[in-house]
Amino acid sequence: MSSVRLEGIAKRFGSTEVIRGVDLDIKSGEFVVFVGASGSGKSTLLRMIAGLEQPSEGQVFIGDSDVTDAPPSQRGVSMVFQSYALYPHMTVRDNIAFGLKLKKAGKAAIEEAVTRVATMLEIEGLLDRKPGQLSGGQRQRVAIARAIVREPDVFLFDEPLSNLDAALRTRTRIEIKDLHRKLQATMIYVTHDQIEAMSLADRMVILNGGHIEQVGPPAVLYHEPATKYVAAFLGSPSMNFLPPELAGSTEAAEIGIRPEDVRVAASGLPATIEEIEELGETRVIHARLESGDPVALRDRDLADPHIGQNLSLEFDRERVHHFDADGKRMPG
Ligand SMILES: Nc1ncnc2c1ncn2[C@@H]1O[C@H](COP(=O)(O)OP(=O)(O)OP(=O)(O)O)[C@@H](O)[C@H]1O
Ligand SMILES: [Mg+2]
Repeated sequence: MSSVRLEGIAKRFGSTEVIRGVDLDIKSGEFVVFVGASGSGKSTLLRMIAGLEQPSEGQVFIGDSDVTDAPPSQRGVSMVFQSYALYPHMTVRDNIAFGLKLKKAGKAAIEEAVTRVATMLEIEGLLDRKPGQLSGGQRQRVAIARAIVREPDVFLFDEPLSNLDAALRTRTRIEIKDLHRKLQATMIYVTHDQIEAMSLADRMVILNGGHIEQVGPPAVLYHEPATKYVAAFLGSPSMNFLPPELAGSTEAAEIGIRPEDVRVAASGLPATIEEIEELGETRVIHARLESGDPVALRDRDLADPHIGQNLSLEFDRERVHHFDADGKRMPG
Protein backbone atom coordinates (compact mmCIF):
# COMPACT_ATOMS: atom_id res chain seq x y z
CA MET A 1 0.00 0.00 0.00
CA SER A 2 1.04 3.56 -0.70
CA SER A 3 0.09 7.13 -0.13
CA VAL A 4 -1.09 9.20 -3.10
CA ARG A 5 -0.48 12.91 -3.44
CA LEU A 6 -1.81 15.34 -6.02
CA GLU A 7 -0.13 18.72 -6.31
CA GLY A 8 -1.59 21.60 -8.30
CA ILE A 9 -3.33 19.33 -10.79
CA ALA A 10 -5.10 20.90 -13.75
CA LYS A 11 -6.43 19.22 -16.86
CA ARG A 12 -7.47 20.83 -20.10
CA PHE A 13 -9.02 19.16 -23.12
CA GLY A 14 -8.24 21.65 -25.86
CA SER A 15 -9.13 25.00 -24.31
CA THR A 16 -11.67 23.56 -21.84
CA GLU A 17 -10.38 23.30 -18.28
CA VAL A 18 -12.11 20.33 -16.64
CA ILE A 19 -9.90 20.05 -13.51
CA ARG A 20 -8.31 23.00 -11.78
CA GLY A 21 -6.10 23.57 -8.77
CA VAL A 22 -6.48 20.14 -7.19
CA ASP A 23 -4.27 19.42 -4.16
CA LEU A 24 -4.96 16.24 -2.26
CA ASP A 25 -3.12 14.00 0.20
CA ILE A 26 -4.34 10.42 0.53
CA LYS A 27 -2.81 8.39 3.32
CA SER A 28 -1.53 4.88 2.91
CA GLY A 29 -4.38 2.43 3.55
CA GLU A 30 -7.05 5.11 3.37
CA PHE A 31 -10.41 4.65 1.60
CA VAL A 32 -11.13 7.88 -0.25
CA VAL A 33 -14.25 8.42 -2.34
CA PHE A 34 -14.61 11.05 -5.07
CA VAL A 35 -18.20 12.25 -5.39
CA GLY A 36 -19.80 14.95 -7.44
CA ALA A 37 -22.35 15.59 -10.16
CA SER A 38 -21.95 14.14 -13.63
CA GLY A 39 -19.17 15.97 -15.47
CA SER A 40 -17.55 17.27 -12.27
CA GLY A 41 -14.27 15.55 -13.17
CA LYS A 42 -14.26 12.41 -10.99
CA SER A 43 -13.19 9.98 -13.71
CA THR A 44 -10.67 12.39 -15.18
CA LEU A 45 -9.01 12.81 -11.80
CA LEU A 46 -8.92 9.05 -11.24
CA ARG A 47 -7.55 8.42 -14.71
CA MET A 48 -4.73 10.87 -14.05
CA ILE A 49 -3.79 8.86 -10.94
CA ALA A 50 -3.92 5.68 -13.02
CA GLY A 51 -1.77 7.21 -15.75
CA LEU A 52 -4.48 6.85 -18.40
CA GLU A 53 -4.64 10.63 -18.73
CA GLN A 54 -1.81 13.15 -18.50
CA PRO A 55 -2.28 16.26 -16.32
CA SER A 56 -1.88 19.62 -18.09
CA GLU A 57 -0.30 20.98 -14.91
CA GLY A 58 0.85 19.60 -11.58
CA GLN A 59 2.30 16.38 -10.26
CA VAL A 60 1.09 12.96 -9.13
CA PHE A 61 3.02 11.13 -6.41
CA ILE A 62 2.50 7.51 -5.39
CA GLY A 63 4.45 6.77 -2.24
CA ASP A 64 7.60 8.85 -2.56
CA SER A 65 7.82 8.64 -6.33
CA ASP A 66 6.78 11.31 -8.77
CA VAL A 67 4.84 9.20 -11.28
CA THR A 68 3.51 12.12 -13.35
CA ASP A 69 5.29 10.83 -16.45
CA ALA A 70 5.22 7.09 -15.60
CA PRO A 71 3.09 4.70 -17.68
CA PRO A 72 0.13 2.97 -15.95
CA SER A 73 1.98 -0.37 -15.68
CA GLN A 74 4.73 1.19 -13.56
CA ARG A 75 2.53 2.93 -10.99
CA GLY A 76 1.54 -0.07 -8.86
CA VAL A 77 -2.16 0.67 -9.37
CA SER A 78 -5.07 -1.54 -10.44
CA MET A 79 -8.24 -0.05 -11.81
CA VAL A 80 -11.76 -1.53 -11.81
CA PHE A 81 -14.13 0.03 -14.35
CA GLN A 82 -17.89 0.32 -14.49
CA SER A 83 -17.85 -1.70 -17.71
CA TYR A 84 -15.71 -4.48 -16.09
CA ALA A 85 -13.53 -4.55 -19.24
CA LEU A 86 -13.12 -8.34 -19.13
CA TYR A 87 -11.75 -10.22 -22.16
CA PRO A 88 -14.82 -12.00 -23.58
CA HIS A 89 -12.95 -14.84 -25.29
CA MET A 90 -10.98 -15.82 -22.17
CA THR A 91 -12.19 -17.91 -19.25
CA VAL A 92 -12.61 -16.31 -15.85
CA ARG A 93 -9.39 -18.05 -14.77
CA ASP A 94 -7.42 -16.55 -17.67
CA ASN A 95 -8.99 -13.13 -17.17
CA ILE A 96 -7.86 -13.10 -13.55
CA ALA A 97 -4.42 -14.50 -14.41
CA PHE A 98 -3.81 -12.13 -17.31
CA GLY A 99 -1.84 -9.49 -15.41
CA LEU A 100 0.31 -12.10 -13.70
CA LYS A 101 1.13 -13.75 -17.01
CA LEU A 102 2.27 -10.39 -18.35
CA LYS A 103 4.51 -10.10 -15.31
CA LYS A 104 5.94 -13.53 -16.23
CA ALA A 105 4.94 -15.14 -12.94
CA GLY A 106 5.42 -18.94 -12.73
CA LYS A 107 2.58 -21.33 -13.52
CA ALA A 108 2.22 -22.68 -9.99
CA ALA A 109 2.35 -19.20 -8.46
CA ILE A 110 -0.36 -18.00 -10.85
CA GLU A 111 -2.61 -20.96 -10.07
CA GLU A 112 -2.14 -20.43 -6.35
CA ALA A 113 -2.89 -16.69 -6.57
CA VAL A 114 -5.96 -17.16 -8.77
CA THR A 115 -7.39 -19.78 -6.42
CA ARG A 116 -6.78 -17.56 -3.40
CA VAL A 117 -8.57 -14.48 -4.76
CA ALA A 118 -11.34 -16.54 -6.38
CA THR A 119 -12.03 -18.12 -2.99
CA MET A 120 -11.99 -14.72 -1.29
CA LEU A 121 -14.60 -13.43 -3.74
CA GLU A 122 -16.56 -16.70 -3.87
CA ILE A 123 -16.20 -17.21 -7.59
CA GLU A 124 -14.07 -20.38 -7.46
CA GLY A 125 -16.93 -22.34 -9.08
CA LEU A 126 -16.94 -20.02 -12.10
CA LEU A 127 -13.29 -20.20 -13.18
CA ASP A 128 -13.90 -22.20 -16.36
CA ARG A 129 -16.73 -20.01 -17.65
CA LYS A 130 -16.46 -17.13 -20.08
CA PRO A 131 -17.65 -13.63 -19.00
CA GLY A 132 -20.72 -13.95 -21.27
CA GLN A 133 -21.92 -16.84 -19.07
CA LEU A 134 -21.92 -14.73 -15.89
CA SER A 135 -24.38 -12.37 -14.24
CA GLY A 136 -23.48 -8.70 -13.83
CA GLY A 137 -22.58 -9.18 -10.18
CA GLN A 138 -20.37 -12.18 -10.96
CA ARG A 139 -18.60 -10.26 -13.72
CA GLN A 140 -17.99 -7.43 -11.34
CA ARG A 141 -16.38 -9.80 -8.86
CA VAL A 142 -14.15 -11.20 -11.59
CA ALA A 143 -13.05 -7.66 -12.41
CA ILE A 144 -12.28 -7.05 -8.73
CA ALA A 145 -10.43 -10.39 -8.50
CA ARG A 146 -8.33 -9.41 -11.49
CA ALA A 147 -7.41 -6.17 -9.75
CA ILE A 148 -6.58 -7.85 -6.43
CA VAL A 149 -4.44 -10.63 -7.81
CA ARG A 150 -1.84 -8.15 -9.00
CA GLU A 151 -1.35 -6.96 -5.41
CA PRO A 152 -1.33 -3.28 -6.29
CA ASP A 153 -0.32 -0.56 -3.85
CA VAL A 154 -3.39 1.43 -4.81
CA PHE A 155 -6.84 0.32 -6.02
CA LEU A 156 -8.79 2.64 -8.26
CA PHE A 157 -12.52 2.04 -8.76
CA ASP A 158 -14.64 4.00 -11.24
CA GLU A 159 -18.34 3.43 -10.47
CA PRO A 160 -17.82 -0.33 -10.18
CA LEU A 161 -21.35 -1.07 -8.95
CA SER A 162 -23.47 1.07 -11.21
CA ASN A 163 -24.49 -1.84 -13.45
CA LEU A 164 -25.85 -3.88 -10.55
CA ASP A 165 -29.38 -3.99 -9.19
CA ALA A 166 -30.08 -2.36 -5.82
CA ALA A 167 -29.80 -5.48 -3.65
CA LEU A 168 -26.59 -6.72 -5.25
CA ARG A 169 -25.18 -3.24 -5.13
CA THR A 170 -25.63 -3.06 -1.38
CA ARG A 171 -24.14 -6.51 -0.89
CA THR A 172 -21.13 -5.84 -3.11
CA ARG A 173 -20.60 -2.53 -1.33
CA ILE A 174 -20.24 -4.40 1.95
CA GLU A 175 -17.86 -6.86 0.28
CA ILE A 176 -15.67 -4.02 -0.95
CA LYS A 177 -15.55 -2.52 2.53
CA ASP A 178 -14.65 -5.91 3.93
CA LEU A 179 -11.98 -6.33 1.28
CA HIS A 180 -10.49 -2.98 2.24
CA ARG A 181 -10.24 -4.13 5.84
CA LYS A 182 -8.61 -7.42 4.86
CA LEU A 183 -6.11 -5.99 2.38
CA GLN A 184 -5.52 -2.69 4.21
CA ALA A 185 -4.87 -1.24 0.76
CA THR A 186 -5.20 2.33 -0.35
CA MET A 187 -8.46 2.63 -2.27
CA ILE A 188 -9.76 5.52 -4.34
CA TYR A 189 -13.34 5.07 -5.41
CA VAL A 190 -15.51 7.14 -7.72
CA THR A 191 -19.28 7.21 -7.46
CA HIS A 192 -22.11 9.66 -7.88
CA ASP A 193 -24.18 7.71 -5.33
CA GLN A 194 -23.94 9.56 -2.05
CA ILE A 195 -25.12 6.63 0.09
CA GLU A 196 -22.41 4.46 -1.42
CA ALA A 197 -19.88 7.23 -0.88
CA MET A 198 -20.83 7.86 2.73
CA SER A 199 -20.90 4.18 3.65
CA LEU A 200 -17.50 3.39 2.15
CA ALA A 201 -15.38 6.46 2.71
CA ASP A 202 -12.87 7.24 5.40
CA ARG A 203 -12.85 10.61 3.67
CA MET A 204 -14.96 12.00 0.87
CA VAL A 205 -13.77 14.44 -1.75
CA ILE A 206 -16.63 16.53 -3.14
CA LEU A 207 -15.92 17.74 -6.65
CA ASN A 208 -17.80 20.62 -8.21
CA GLY A 209 -16.99 21.78 -11.73
CA GLY A 210 -13.44 20.38 -11.62
CA HIS A 211 -12.38 21.78 -8.27
CA ILE A 212 -12.49 20.33 -4.77
CA GLU A 213 -15.37 21.81 -2.83
CA GLN A 214 -14.59 20.05 0.48
CA VAL A 215 -12.68 17.03 1.82
CA GLY A 216 -13.49 15.21 5.05
CA PRO A 217 -15.08 12.24 6.82
CA PRO A 218 -18.71 11.65 5.78
CA ALA A 219 -20.21 12.72 9.11
CA VAL A 220 -18.23 15.97 9.13
CA LEU A 221 -19.31 16.87 5.61
CA TYR A 222 -22.90 16.04 6.45
CA HIS A 223 -23.07 17.99 9.70
CA GLU A 224 -20.54 20.74 9.00
CA PRO A 225 -20.69 21.44 5.27
CA ALA A 226 -18.36 24.28 4.31
CA THR A 227 -20.63 25.49 1.54
CA LYS A 228 -24.23 25.44 0.45
CA TYR A 229 -23.16 23.24 -2.46
CA VAL A 230 -21.95 20.49 -0.10
CA ALA A 231 -24.95 20.96 2.18
CA ALA A 232 -27.32 20.49 -0.76
CA PHE A 233 -25.35 17.64 -2.31
CA LEU A 234 -25.46 15.34 0.75
CA GLY A 235 -28.73 14.09 2.18
CA SER A 236 -31.95 12.91 0.61
CA PRO A 237 -34.30 14.65 0.50
CA SER A 238 -31.97 17.61 0.29
CA MET A 239 -31.54 20.24 2.98
CA ASN A 240 -34.27 22.92 3.00
CA PHE A 241 -32.96 26.39 2.14
CA LEU A 242 -35.08 29.22 3.48
CA PRO A 243 -35.13 32.98 4.06
CA PRO A 244 -33.10 33.80 7.20
CA GLU A 245 -35.92 35.57 9.01
CA LEU A 246 -37.72 32.22 9.39
CA ALA A 247 -35.04 31.29 11.92
CA GLY A 248 -34.73 34.79 13.35
CA SER A 249 -31.37 35.35 11.68
CA THR A 250 -30.35 38.84 10.68
CA GLU A 251 -26.83 38.18 9.36
CA ALA A 252 -27.23 35.16 7.09
CA ALA A 253 -28.31 35.44 3.46
CA GLU A 254 -30.04 32.09 3.75
CA ILE A 255 -30.58 29.37 6.32
CA GLY A 256 -30.52 25.61 5.84
CA ILE A 257 -32.33 22.93 7.82
CA ARG A 258 -32.35 19.19 7.10
CA PRO A 259 -35.71 17.38 6.81
CA GLU A 260 -34.89 15.28 9.92
CA ASP A 261 -34.40 18.48 11.93
CA VAL A 262 -37.88 19.84 11.21
CA ARG A 263 -40.59 18.80 13.69
CA VAL A 264 -44.32 19.01 13.97
CA ALA A 265 -44.96 21.13 17.06
CA ALA A 266 -47.92 22.49 19.01
CA SER A 267 -47.07 26.01 18.00
CA GLY A 268 -44.65 27.04 15.28
CA LEU A 269 -44.63 28.09 11.65
CA PRO A 270 -48.01 27.35 10.01
CA ALA A 271 -47.74 25.04 7.00
CA THR A 272 -49.90 22.90 4.74
CA ILE A 273 -49.11 19.35 3.56
CA GLU A 274 -48.74 19.14 -0.23
CA GLU A 275 -47.28 15.69 -0.75
CA ILE A 276 -46.54 12.57 1.33
CA GLU A 277 -43.87 9.98 0.53
CA GLU A 278 -44.37 6.82 2.59
CA LEU A 279 -40.96 5.11 3.00
CA GLY A 280 -41.76 2.41 5.52
CA GLU A 281 -39.62 3.20 8.53
CA THR A 282 -40.29 6.90 8.05
CA ARG A 283 -42.16 9.20 5.73
CA VAL A 284 -41.22 12.42 4.01
CA ILE A 285 -43.79 15.17 4.10
CA HIS A 286 -43.56 18.03 1.63
CA ALA A 287 -45.26 21.04 3.11
CA ARG A 288 -45.57 24.71 2.21
CA LEU A 289 -45.11 27.45 4.77
CA GLU A 290 -47.41 30.45 4.94
CA SER A 291 -44.51 32.46 3.51
CA GLY A 292 -44.82 30.34 0.34
CA ASP A 293 -41.54 28.47 0.95
CA PRO A 294 -41.53 24.68 0.53
CA VAL A 295 -40.21 22.57 3.44
CA ALA A 296 -39.58 18.83 3.51
CA LEU A 297 -39.61 17.02 6.83
CA ARG A 298 -39.11 13.49 8.02
CA ASP A 299 -41.95 12.32 10.18
CA ARG A 300 -42.70 9.18 12.17
CA ASP A 301 -45.30 10.54 14.50
CA LEU A 302 -48.33 11.88 12.65
CA ALA A 303 -51.20 9.40 12.97
CA ASP A 304 -52.82 9.77 9.58
CA PRO A 305 -51.43 12.70 7.61
CA HIS A 306 -53.29 13.80 4.51
CA ILE A 307 -52.78 16.31 1.73
CA GLY A 308 -54.19 19.72 2.61
CA GLN A 309 -53.74 19.16 6.34
CA ASN A 310 -52.53 22.14 8.34
CA LEU A 311 -49.45 21.71 10.52
CA SER A 312 -47.29 23.84 12.65
CA LEU A 313 -43.55 23.31 12.22
CA GLU A 314 -40.52 23.93 14.37
CA PHE A 315 -36.81 23.84 13.47
CA ASP A 316 -34.24 22.28 15.75
CA ARG A 317 -32.39 25.55 16.53
CA GLU A 318 -29.07 23.84 17.19
CA ARG A 319 -29.16 22.35 13.72
CA VAL A 320 -29.96 25.40 11.65
CA HIS A 321 -27.10 26.24 9.24
CA HIS A 322 -26.41 29.81 8.20
CA PHE A 323 -25.03 30.68 4.78
CA ASP A 324 -23.63 33.99 3.56
CA ALA A 325 -24.31 35.56 0.17
CA ASP A 326 -21.41 33.58 -1.39
CA GLY A 327 -22.86 30.28 -0.21
CA LYS A 328 -20.24 29.83 2.55
CA ARG A 329 -21.44 28.43 5.83
CA MET A 330 -21.12 30.92 8.67
CA PRO A 331 -19.77 29.79 12.03
CA GLY A 332 -22.14 29.42 14.99
N1 LIG B 1 -11.37 13.07 -23.71
C1 LIG B 1 -12.09 14.15 -23.42
N2 LIG B 1 -12.16 15.21 -24.28
C2 LIG B 1 -12.86 16.32 -23.98
N3 LIG B 1 -13.57 16.49 -22.85
C3 LIG B 1 -13.54 15.50 -21.97
C4 LIG B 1 -12.82 14.27 -22.20
N4 LIG B 1 -12.98 13.47 -21.11
C5 LIG B 1 -13.78 14.15 -20.27
N5 LIG B 1 -14.11 15.36 -20.76
C6 LIG B 1 -14.95 16.39 -20.10
O1 LIG B 1 -14.41 16.61 -18.82
C7 LIG B 1 -15.44 16.83 -17.87
C8 LIG B 1 -15.27 15.85 -16.72
O2 LIG B 1 -15.52 14.56 -17.20
P1 LIG B 1 -15.45 13.28 -16.26
O3 LIG B 1 -15.65 12.08 -17.11
O4 LIG B 1 -14.21 13.33 -15.46
O5 LIG B 1 -16.71 13.52 -15.32
P2 LIG B 1 -17.34 12.57 -14.19
O6 LIG B 1 -17.38 13.37 -12.94
O7 LIG B 1 -16.60 11.27 -14.17
O8 LIG B 1 -18.82 12.38 -14.73
P3 LIG B 1 -19.80 11.08 -14.70
O9 LIG B 1 -20.41 11.05 -13.32
O10 LIG B 1 -20.81 11.40 -15.75
O11 LIG B 1 -18.98 9.87 -15.01
C9 LIG B 1 -16.75 16.67 -18.63
O12 LIG B 1 -17.23 17.95 -18.93
C10 LIG B 1 -16.36 15.91 -19.86
O13 LIG B 1 -17.20 16.23 -20.94
MG1 LIG C 1 -17.14 9.30 -14.61
